[in-house]
Amino acid sequence: MLITREQDWWKKAVIYQVYPRSFQDSNGDGIGDIQGLIGRLSYLEKLGIDCIWLSPVCKSPQDDNGYDISDYQNIDPMFGTLEDMEQLFAEAGKHGIGILMDLVLNHSSDEHRWFQEAVKSRENPYHDYYVWRDGVEGEYPNDMRSVFGGPAWQWVPELGQYYFHQFSVKQPDLNWENPKVRREIYDMINWWLDQGVAGFRLDVIDQIAKDPELKVTCNGPRLHEFIRELSRETFQRGHYLTVGEAWGADVERAKLYSAPDGSEFSMVFQFEHICLDQIPGKEKWDLAPLPFLKLKEVMEKWQTELYGCGWNSLFWNNHDLPRIVSRWGNDGIYREESAKMLALLLHGMQGTPFIYQGEELGMTNVRFAPEDYRDIETVNLYRERLEAGYSQESVMESIYAKSRDNARTPMQWDDSENAGFTGGTPWIKVNPNYQEINAAEQMTRETSVWSFYRQLIAFRKRYSVFADGRFTLLCREHPQVFAYIRENESERLLIVCNFFGGRPEWPAECREVCNAGKQQGMKLLLSNYSDSKKERCPEMLRPYEAVMYYSTK
Ligand code: GLC
Ligand code: CA
Repeated sequence: MLITREQDWWKKAVIYQVYPRSFQDSNGDGIGDIQGLIGRLSYLEKLGIDCIWLSPVCKSPQDDNGYDISDYQNIDPMFGTLEDMEQLFAEAGKHGIGILMDLVLNHSSDEHRWFQEAVKSRENPYHDYYVWRDGVEGEYPNDMRSVFGGPAWQWVPELGQYYFHQFSVKQPDLNWENPKVRREIYDMINWWLDQGVAGFRLDVIDQIAKDPELKVTCNGPRLHEFIRELSRETFQRGHYLTVGEAWGADVERAKLYSAPDGSEFSMVFQFEHICLDQIPGKEKWDLAPLPFLKLKEVMEKWQTELYGCGWNSLFWNNHDLPRIVSRWGNDGIYREESAKMLALLLHGMQGTPFIYQGEELGMTNVRFAPEDYRDIETVNLYRERLEAGYSQESVMESIYAKSRDNARTPMQWDDSENAGFTGGTPWIKVNPNYQEINAAEQMTRETSVWSFYRQLIAFRKRYSVFADGRFTLLCREHPQVFAYIRENESERLLIVCNFFGGRPEWPAECREVCNAGKQQGMKLLLSNYSDSKKERCPEMLRPYEAVMYYSTK
């Protein structure tokens, strides 16, 4: 079934990210697959989401879990076949759900046909599809480092050259300066558009316009020229949702990425808020507390400065980030309250919310033994830091807090063995708390995190203020409370969140808005304590308490 979509439909949409290898296995090999996902579409429909962002399922040696593609127009046998994919598009359509494919265009796999040709000789027509530099054996062209550790250059003795890889050695960077590369990419994207996708997520798109000579990887000089050409040649054929992953985006750049004239993408996926617990100039592994006031400032900046001239995505989680409830909430006794508070805080804002699988259950981080980690980044980090003399204990603390595998443990469907994810042995261990935290239990309980997410999604469809209201931050300097107003011509929302486990008084500023709202019949729309309804703005906020009031004007 083809869903007809209007221009800007994505402004009211909610996206759900599926990391396919960890979502649902259908054939007992321990790895999630497309048929497994098809079997769970009614779950997603019940939740109310509009689209699935599907992490890569294309053919891949899986060095970086599919972010190393060896054939962009085929499906990895581990996940299924092109026919399964066709079936997924059709079945998802029946559930009113669109599919966003993950486009990995900065690099391919070294097992891609282009690269296999490229290494044959310097004269091979595909040689220039990648980024090469001559070198004296044993000496790198420069000191650039790969994101996953080690040098960004790999020596190919037969050619007497190095190739450039910002990620693993098995992810050689594509040379976007070569117009033939760009043409091949556009043709491939157009082919996917013809298969019936609803749009794309563009992996590390801000790194495509690299210039290793100048040691530039992110935001290269030709970046927006390339993106505009890409958009013109592909997405502008219809009303697609396109989201560019951009770790290096500031607000000004985001305005380009998400310009309302549609010249680049629909929206940007930027990380400023989520990197705040990282010390500038240090690695993410060097743990630091979250500067709460700074979080408010950064969120406010994005909410106000993009208003009317750009579009943001809203997220706490993805497959590269630890679980938010463990990170900035409380995964102990206030797990449910804090998971809901974080959800409400984010889903009240302007932008397109992205929910990462299991977030809607309040799934938590894991603490595995070193040998149980699977992620290439984590495995490399462990080895490198031990070699560099860090203590085992401190390395494991970093991994517990920030490893990408925190997000990659299997989806917790029910309390049966392996959480209902697989009948076989899962490729990565299941979080041992699945008997307590699972979808089956939460779907039948009105007070669950799942039910809370479901209501938030429904509100975004019901009240237009969620999509178009202006944002005003309240209580800017309050050390515990995050509160704001959203308002358009006819509606108003007040959101008050106690971000921590204390019991602060209701801030006067919020109380005033609440009292003034009484005339307009301001009512409680949602809260994470079942008895918040009894009183309008009581004396105190309880641990992680979050409330959302609504009125018409
Ligand atoms: C993006 C992906 C990440 C991957 C990297 C390289 O950041 O989200 O998972 O490792 O790009 O493709
Ligand atoms: Ca499988």
